Amino acid sequence: AKGEYDHFMMKEINEQPTALAQALEGRIDPDSGRIALSDFEPGTFEDVESVQFVACGTSYHAALYGSLTLKQAGVQSAALLANEYSVSAPPIDENTLVIAVTQSGETADTLNALRHAADQGAMTVTVTNVVGSTAAREADEALFIRAGPEIGVAATKTFSSQAVMLSLLGQRIAADQFGEVPSDLDSLLPDLESMPESIESILETTSARSIAERYEGSQSYFFIGRGLGFPVALEGALKFKEITYEHAEGFASGELKHGPLALVTPDTPVFAVFTGEEDEKTLKNAEEAQTRGAPVVAICPDGHRAVDVADAHLEIPETDADLAGLLANVQLQLVSYYAADLLDRPIDKPRNLAKSVTVE
Ligand code: F6R
Repeated sequence: AKGEYDHFMMKEINEQPTALAQALEGRIDPDSGRIALSDFEPGTFEDVESVQFVACGTSYHAALYGSLTLKQAGVQSAALLANEYSVSAPPIDENTLVIAVTQSGETADTLNALRHAADQGAMTVTVTNVVGSTAAREADEALFIRAGPEIGVAATKTFSSQAVMLSLLGQRIAADQFGEVPSDLDSLLPDLESMPESIESILETTSARSIAERYEGSQSYFFIGRGLGFPVALEGALKFKEITYEHAEGFASGELKHGPLALVTPDTPVFAVFTGEEDEKTLKNAEEAQTRGAPVVAICPDGHRAVDVADAHLEIPETDADLAGLLANVQLQLVSYYAADLLDRPIDKPRNLAKSVTVE
């Protein structure tokens, strides 16, 4: 079932345009240019005062992404690791909405957090890929990402679909809560609808393989980003370590100088994600690493100032700042894939890992 591909992971990376088109199908109203999301009754979220996302691993990175977009829409929100939730959950009441983000819908840590939230009286929603999963059955409401089955242990297309669905859901929550549609939606929707096309163009033109070759054998791989680029940096590093078995870390760009810079040498490439949010600062952080000899790979549109500064460039099409990170993530998925392939790793089934983690 891998068809023309050597691995499910590559097949699933390539399925992202289709997966996203499926996720968006019928959920944006082309006439009004508004989010329809008829998955939920009108006014479902009108009493919501704060939102908590719970998730693990890659889904946690999607949750961080979703939480940031929700904050930008003016809604109080936080993303929490599901396995820390029982000790770290902020206060919950019936005006709290808890959103469990879980591809499989079967992750024990996430289910525990969901149950804890329900016990405390929160309204619960799950954003999941699997209809009939435990999370979908137990949550008050479910939003399906419709990415199709994901076989590779490393989550790829489901991350992209989760993040996009969370940004739609966030807009819907804000609309229910404030009784009006957030004003920045007009600029976001056209770019959302062209996401599949933008990803297609990345897949056709990527130089990820040559970047992977160029930096093969490095000591560590660092990923930095700011704002919506931060969860993407975390996700880039998780994917990289998961399938290459090489050391990789993701940092908030501004944190580099607060410790990790001590690790930076000519042998530690730094992948810098530019999303259009305070890019000048991120560029300065990247240059701080470059001064210590580290090669910098900029992930940004062509013509961006970072291209002149960086040692290498992975191009993404111009898009809304809300979505640029998700395009950058596709380039990083490809870098991880090619790096793992060069090392001849069992890409679809990395050692010690399972597709769905049903123990605490
Ligand atoms: C990483 C990966 C894991 C999962 C995590 C949560 O590529 O796949 O980090 O994201 O185990 O799984 P779900 O989303 O099924 O709850």
